[in-house]
Amino acid sequence: MANQVKVGIIGVGTIGSVHADAYAKVADAGVVALCDILPDRLREKGSRHGVEKLYENYHDLLADPEIEAVSVCVPNDLHMEIAVAAFDAGKHVMLEKPMAMSTAQGMAICAARDRAGKVLQMGMVTRQRDEAQVLKELIDNGDLGDIYHIRVVLTRRRGIPGLGGWFTTKARSGGGPLIDIGVHYFDLTMWLSGLWNPTAVSATIYSKFGSPMENYHYVSMWAGPPDFSGVFDVEDYACGTVRFGGKASMNFDVSWAANTPGECYAEILGTKGGVRMGSGPLTLLTEFEDRLADIKVQHSTGTDPFAAEMTKYIAAVRGEGPPAATGEEGVIVMKLIDAIYQSAHEGREVAID
Ligand SMILES: NC(=O)c1ccc[n+]([C@@H]2O[C@H](COP(=O)([O-])OP(=O)(O)OC[C@H]3O[C@@H](n4cnc5c(N)ncnc54)[C@H](O)[C@@H]3O)[C@@H](O)[C@H]2O)c1
Repeated sequence: MANQVKVGIIGVGTIGSVHADAYAKVADAGVVALCDILPDRLREKGSRHGVEKLYENYHDLLADPEIEAVSVCVPNDLHMEIAVAAFDAGKHVMLEKPMAMSTAQGMAICAARDRAGKVLQMGMVTRQRDEAQVLKELIDNGDLGDIYHIRVVLTRRRGIPGLGGWFTTKARSGGGPLIDIGVHYFDLTMWLSGLWNPTAVSATIYSKFGSPMENYHYVSMWAGPPDFSGVFDVEDYACGTVRFGGKASMNFDVSWAANTPGECYAEILGTKGGVRMGSGPLTLLTEFEDRLADIKVQHSTGTDPFAAEMTKYIAAVRGEGPPAATGEEGVIVMKLIDAIYQSAHEGREVAID
């Protein structure tokens, strides 16, 4: 414990507990404090994760000199406020996705990081999956050739989380499936391909199933049960096209609810090879000795992506490597999200600077 980085987790709902379990697998980290505004949940999580210091106010956790690094695991509307406060208190920050509610908020977080000279790592955990790591190696090795198109398909038939709660209240979440699950695959595919220059977007969003809430039929609900006294004012479907400097493009289909069987994959098409990640074995569609060839890519399995993410965060805090996903990359994802919503609301293509 003496040489471990001492961590505090702010927000111990679903993902806060996932972070606590992940840090428990990192030898160089120790979770010493938790914070939540719900006292019963805080006590229950304290005993579940074996943590004694429990704070109901995040300012008190940030004032604790023992804590060097935090995980911010609160609803999206609090990401900027708490991340900036953490940097101002001299802590390193692991920030859950989405980075914030807007590009401007994301830039404010980066500015606070720079003032503090501390580490910011974005919670882009999909990058840490075994298949993503090996796919990144293939792409960096040139096995796909020039990448010119990406397809992101993240469709759920009925998968609205916490209907009526903060996820479906725009003022608290910033939006629906686009900002909730779309961010993961926008980040993943831009990281894999190196296409970090989205220049324009044309998008449409729909809201067909979440309201009126009583009419929503479903089998199971993440973050449920529904709160019919709450709000649903976000999209439940988003689709569109992103341009990358006129040389590459991305089509995306993202839904929480639609009359579709539901799929979850990212496809990356290059001049030498194409690959689909997320549905079935990782297979490189390519050519070999003048014939079409399907190469099944072997890779390790069973890595806990959250443990891998925290391992990299703690290494970055110790000055032993870069953060696994940077604030600058988070800002680019936020620019894309802002432009998608703007395009959908204005009914036209929108440029991204
Ligand atoms: N990386 C992933 O795969 C993943 C998965 C789920 C959620 N998330 C993200 O994690 C964040 C939290 O999501 P969740 O599903 O855990 O939500 P949740 O509602 O289960 O948990 C959020 C917790 O924050 C607490 N909280 C609210 N205000 C607070 C405050 N001022 N101070 C301290 N605690 C406060 C709530 O009481 C709650 O316990 C969101 O930004 C979400 O997008 C990421």
